[in-house]
Amino acid sequence: MTTRIAKRLIAWQKQHGRHTLPWQNTRDPYRVWLSEIMLQQTQVAAVLAYYARFLERFPTVASLAAASLDEVMPYWAGLGYYSRARNLHAAAQMVMRDFGGTFPDNPVALQRLPGVGQSTAAAVAVFAFGKRAAILDGNVKRVFARHFGIAGFPGSSAVAAQLWHIAERELPKSDLVAYTQGLMDLGATLCTRTKPDCARCPLRASCVALQEDRVAQLPERKPAKAKPQRSTRVLVLVRDDAVLVEPRPPQGIWGGLLSLPEGDEGDLAAVLALHNIRPAQLTALPEIEHGFTHFSLTIAPYVARVAHVARLSHAQLRSPGQHWLPLSEVANAALPAPIKKLLLRCAGTLLNA
Ligand code: ADE
Repeated sequence: MTTRIAKRLIAWQKQHGRHTLPWQNTRDPYRVWLSEIMLQQTQVAAVLAYYARFLERFPTVASLAAASLDEVMPYWAGLGYYSRARNLHAAAQMVMRDFGGTFPDNPVALQRLPGVGQSTAAAVAVFAFGKRAAILDGNVKRVFARHFGIAGFPGSSAVAAQLWHIAERELPKSDLVAYTQGLMDLGATLCTRTKPDCARCPLRASCVALQEDRVAQLPERKPAKAKPQRSTRVLVLVRDDAVLVEPRPPQGIWGGLLSLPEGDEGDLAAVLALHNIRPAQLTALPEIEHGFTHFSLTIAPYVARVAHVARLSHAQLRSPGQHWLPLSEVANAALPAPIKKLLLRCAGTLLNA
């Protein structure tokens, strides 16, 4: 069992933490709440000027509720995540209408305000009302994931549940303001996402990630979404020592490159008919997997040899894009990498067949 973190964190916060932020040293719930909303997904440095301007124009929850949303938005412009401003305005009106103009003092009631989740409600309850409540924002998740060696993506419900359990368990009996601010300060100043300053950390002696050399691995990233799968067929039609190629449409994947005739069975039937090839003459080659940024493509290649014909058909004349590329030029042609690889791999076989 790891030792509790609270005592060391509180002592560190008092000596090394932040004490002069404009929303500290006030217990006005309106000011505390406003700061916590602005600080959601936004760093302190970006918030400072907005916070001051906002309070100058809307010094009380009553003044905010009385304004129109159009009057409020200019004071949020540039901060981002604008649903926060809409929720803020709606919450101010809810405080006036449902709570008689006074902010509720407990996390459960605070969470009824639009834009106030479990962690923000706890922060307001601690900083404005001195309540005992657990916060768990992104920075604190990182601190806990590292210190307690919690694997998995903190955004997943299973890992979040573990972290909330830790957050509740570690709460001290007293000094909640210094403890809560200490968690925030540690996450923002030492236990940063990149280049954490473990040498100065008050929790280093018990940090699982540090002991196991996993600081850079924790917290784990959001698992990459499985890419959508697409599949296509390509034709490798060889005549003499050349392969039939066509330019790709300028838009879309491989735009502007040369490639093989491609498409579904129907699309390819037309090309086969053009060259007097029966589907039975096709040989299937092993499929190729190619990863694009937003999807994976399975390419099924089919090979056939075309008898030499001296005269071009009408249809060929009407599809000027297609032409025969000598296999000896494949290596230097503007072909997509997986297509070039395919052709180079079978060029030897095709030339000698
Ligand atoms: N981030 C969220 N809440 C904060 C606070 N009260 N002080 C500093 N950073 C914060």
